[in-house]
Amino acid sequence: MSKAPDSFIFVHSNRRVICAWEGLTQLAELAAQAKARRPVVVMDAFFQGGTIAARVAELLRSATRAEAVFHYVPLQEPDTGSIEACHAAMSGETPDLIVAVGGGSTMDTAKISRLMLANPGPVQDMAGLGKRLNPHASLLVAVPTTAGTGSEVSESAIAGLAGSNVKLIFRSQEMTPQIALLDASLSTSAPPQVTAGSGYDAVTHAVEAYVSKAASMMTDPFAESAMHLLGRWLPVAYREPNDARARTACLVASCQAAIAFNSANLGLAHAIAAPLGALHHVPHGLANALALPAVTAFNEPAMGDKAQAVAAAFGGTTAAQALARLRAEVGLNIGLDEFVPSEEAREELARAAMKSGQVRMNPRPATLDDMRTILQDMRTPFDGQAMLRR
Ligand SMILES: [Fe+2]
Repeated sequence: MSKAPDSFIFVHSNRRVICAWEGLTQLAELAAQAKARRPVVVMDAFFQGGTIAARVAELLRSATRAEAVFHYVPLQEPDTGSIEACHAAMSGETPDLIVAVGGGSTMDTAKISRLMLANPGPVQDMAGLGKRLNPHASLLVAVPTTAGTGSEVSESAIAGLAGSNVKLIFRSQEMTPQIALLDASLSTSAPPQVTAGSGYDAVTHAVEAYVSKAASMMTDPFAESAMHLLGRWLPVAYREPNDARARTACLVASCQAAIAFNSANLGLAHAIAAPLGALHHVPHGLANALALPAVTAFNEPAMGDKAQAVAAAFGGTTAAQALARLRAEVGLNIGLDEFVPSEEAREELARAAMKSGQVRMNPRPATLDDMRTILQDMRTPFDGQAMLRR
């Protein structure tokens, strides 16, 4: 008799994913269906004064007969200060519809600020896993403009504690946007380095969810599809920003990867990426690109059949080599030494990474010494092959 599959828990609290090229226009219908009268838009400051902001204002005006209040999210990773500012803009309006338009920072800001409306007190009081948070009655529609975080369907959000290197994690089913509106035409304005960085974040979500200890028969198909779509289409989106098929594939893949990691969690690459961002201000996607090939080379002995599946999805002889090849193809082939040049700083990074809860989800148990070795391997760009000989 064959072994019974492991038991699992799968959670998904987003209600609807809509995918349509130039589907932003559906905002009017969604607002009308919700009978919204007090819309608030949380938008990436990149779009301030531009045509997308004007279109969103007009669509909401036509459906609600009200002028939407706009709050623009600064071009930086959110912290408790920027969250409080967004909450202050929202709280005067008692919104019944909140539309978040932007990348992960914007969507996370909207998700946390909205729940503050129903959970009075300092924002940091809402942080942590397993908190029971009150729901807010508004409809939250998330419109991602980059393919990366998958925040439009995930139950979590991250923000820094202002004035410190601490990253706060927020998680609640009440935080998930009810509607994810995937309009890949909005991502064509992203510069190639943004496409590459956010795309590699999605790659890391897909791979880490796929090989996680908490991966299951429910999450694997989402992770596998995301890997195949990104392996094929991320390089095309990087080279040809206006390719509708590539942009759509990357956006759908980013969403699928988030559905997978929402239940399967992540691994060592994200454990390293968080302090790389907090201590050294390395953008999240780039931090994952620095970490994932070296982490995967470490993990390969524990990945079983999945090692070959990752290699095949990204077109390489081994999983690590395939991921290093993809990283080079999208212009992210740089080493850790550019950001963390000293041994002392690497040691601090290793110790900070080991504190992450994601370490426990990694397929191969890792010690502090293992982490030091991985960081050593990340110092200069590599082809993924050399490290497998360790
Ligand atoms: Fe990520």
